[in-house]
Amino acid sequence: MRVAILTGGGDCPGLNAVIRAVVRRMVQGHGGEVLGVSHGWAGLVDGDVEQLDLRSVSGILPKGGTILGTSRTNPFKMEGGVEKIKTNMERFKIDALIAVGGEDTLGVAAKLCDMGVKVVGVPKTIDNDLSCTDYTFGFDTAINVATEAIDRLHSTAESHNRVMVVEVMGRHTGWIAVEAGMAGGADVVLIPEIPISVDEVCKLLVHRHDRGKDFSIVVVAEGARFQDKDSSHMVVQDEKVDAFGHVRLGGIGAILARAIEERTGYETRYTVLGHIQRGGTPTAFDRVLGTRFGVAAADLVVKGDFGKMVSLQGNKVRSVELKDAVGELKTVDMELYEMAKIFFG
Ligand code: F6P
Repeated sequence: MRVAILTGGGDCPGLNAVIRAVVRRMVQGHGGEVLGVSHGWAGLVDGDVEQLDLRSVSGILPKGGTILGTSRTNPFKMEGGVEKIKTNMERFKIDALIAVGGEDTLGVAAKLCDMGVKVVGVPKTIDNDLSCTDYTFGFDTAINVATEAIDRLHSTAESHNRVMVVEVMGRHTGWIAVEAGMAGGADVVLIPEIPISVDEVCKLLVHRHDRGKDFSIVVVAEGARFQDKDSSHMVVQDEKVDAFGHVRLGGIGAILARAIEERTGYETRYTVLGHIQRGGTPTAFDRVLGTRFGVAAADLVVKGDFGKMVSLQGNKVRSVELKDAVGELKTVDMELYEMAKIFFG
C-alpha cells in the first residue's frame, strides 16, 4: 500500500515525530510505502512528492518544524486545485492520504473525503482548539515555552515594580493563555472566549497592589477582544487574509499595557512571545503523542478506516469522524478558567 503524508497550516513541535512514526509503522509494520508531500496541500496540487524511507526519518524525532515543509494553501480556493490533487494521487499511485493539520488543513481533508478521497487526519495545533480530542500535539511544548517566559518575566517585573503584559498565541481560543497562566502564576489571564473589561483588569491589579504586591503578570491571548469596542474586533497586524480567511493577529499586548499604565499609573511593559512558542524541539509529551498518533493513523489507513481523525481521549488513542472534529472549535473549558480566576488579583 502506498500512502502519502502532508503537514499543513502553522508548523508545530511534534510534526516530525508523526512523520517518523507513520513511515516506521507503514514500512516496517505493514510492508507499505510512504510518500512525503511538500508544503501541505500545495505539494499535492503541484505534484511535489518524494519517497520517504527509514533513512529519511532517522534522527528527526527531537527536531522542531516539519521536514516536509508546510503552507496555508487551500486547494478549494485554487483554480482546478481539487482536480489536480485527484490527478496527482492517480499519477503517483497514492492509495490513501494522511493529513496532519489543524481546523483548516483537516477541514480540506474532510471535504476531500466527501468527494471520495481516502484520507485519515492527525490533529495538530499549538492552540489545542480542535474538537473531539483532549489534546493536540504541539500544545504541551507551547505552554512549557510560555511558562518559562512567564517565570523569567516575574523576576524583572518584581525588580522594577512593574506590570508585565505577556501576549501569547491563541487565535480563537485561550488554551495557551489559561494553562501557561496557571502554570506561571499569572495574576490575570485574558482569553478570546471572554471579552476584556479593562476596568476589571485594573481593579484586579489595584487589589493586588493594595495587598502589598507591587508587580503583576497579565497573560493575554492574541485573539482576545475588548468589551468596550466592537466585540468582533480583534487586534490585527494587517487586514490581509490568508486562503482560509484568517488575518494576522498581534498587538493586543501593547494596547492593553498602555491602557493599564494610563488607568492605574503603574509602570507597564509588554512582551510578545510569538513564534518562539512554535519553534524548536518538542517536549517529551508531544514526541510521545505525535508518535502514538502517527502509528494509529498508519493503522487506520491499513484497515481502510477512512474519513477518521486519530484522537486522544483520556489516555487512550482512539479515532473519531473527521467531520465531527472540524465542525466547531474546542473553546476553553470554563471550569478550568474559573479555577485560574481563583488566583487573579
Ligand atoms: O494556528 C496556530 C497559530 O500559531 C495561531 O496561534 C496564530 O494566530 C497563527 O498560527 C499564526 O500564524 P502564522 O505563523 O501564519 O503567522
